[in-house]
Amino acid sequence: MMKNRKIREIFKRKNKNPIVCLTAYSKTIAEILDKYCDIVLVGDSLGMVLYGMESTREVNLDMIINHAKSVKKGISKSVLVIDMPYQTYRNEKEAYKNAKKIIKSTKCDALKLEGGKKIINTIKYLINKNIPVMGHIGLLPQSERRKFKFKGRSSVERKRIIEDAILLSEAGVFAIVIECVEESLAKIISKSIPVPTIGIGASKHCDGQILVTDDLLGLSNFTPRFIRKYSNIKKIINKSVLRFRRDVINRNFPGRKNIY
Ligand code: KIV
Repeated sequence: MMKNRKIREIFKRKNKNPIVCLTAYSKTIAEILDKYCDIVLVGDSLGMVLYGMESTREVNLDMIINHAKSVKKGISKSVLVIDMPYQTYRNEKEAYKNAKKIIKSTKCDALKLEGGKKIINTIKYLINKNIPVMGHIGLLPQSERRKFKFKGRSSVERKRIIEDAILLSEAGVFAIVIECVEESLAKIISKSIPVPTIGIGASKHCDGQILVTDDLLGLSNFTPRFIRKYSNIKKIINKSVLRFRRDVINRNFPGRKNIY
């Protein structure tokens, strides 16, 4: 039974109006996203996007908690989900201890863990302790050693991902992120389980979509085909900084209005 009303509302959106989700790492961005999103995720993508790390595996508990605290200050209506970092949920006890720490310090609504069958007992354990969990299947950045490639090419891989989805659904997750899987596989999964699916590179057949906000804004250099750039913020920042530089050099800044 899902106690949190906002989480229940997300669960009920299966096959209804699409669920809008984006990532946030700070209060400023969260304040904007909160007006338009159903779910705001503090993703461990922040390691690569903000900190320039090689992979999400380098993100630790303190980093995600600090960013989540900032994001929480900008959220009033959306469901706030936090990623559990790599190696913070290797067994049930460890997962529960760290999950409690994240929830206590950030007041978030739910946690996201990567994986299906391999971590199913841990996920069941957290849900039994009344911790709302969002699943994540398909491409799993915390487990990926090679370059990111879409999943669902072989029948063995497809079977495994479908099995993961069914196990997570039966365990009681309230939504499942499906990352980078072939279109027909995303469609089969979305049609076979009662849990809303949130796609990233997983076709329009999912019940909702998520992107990394920096990618959507054109702030990152990441350009896989599943991203649609809605803006070129980098260009705007470049122009503004160049104008500031010129004004400083030409002694046009500060102006009369900027002094005391
Ligand atoms: O870490 C993240 O931002 C994510 C999304 C890409 C789904 O897991």
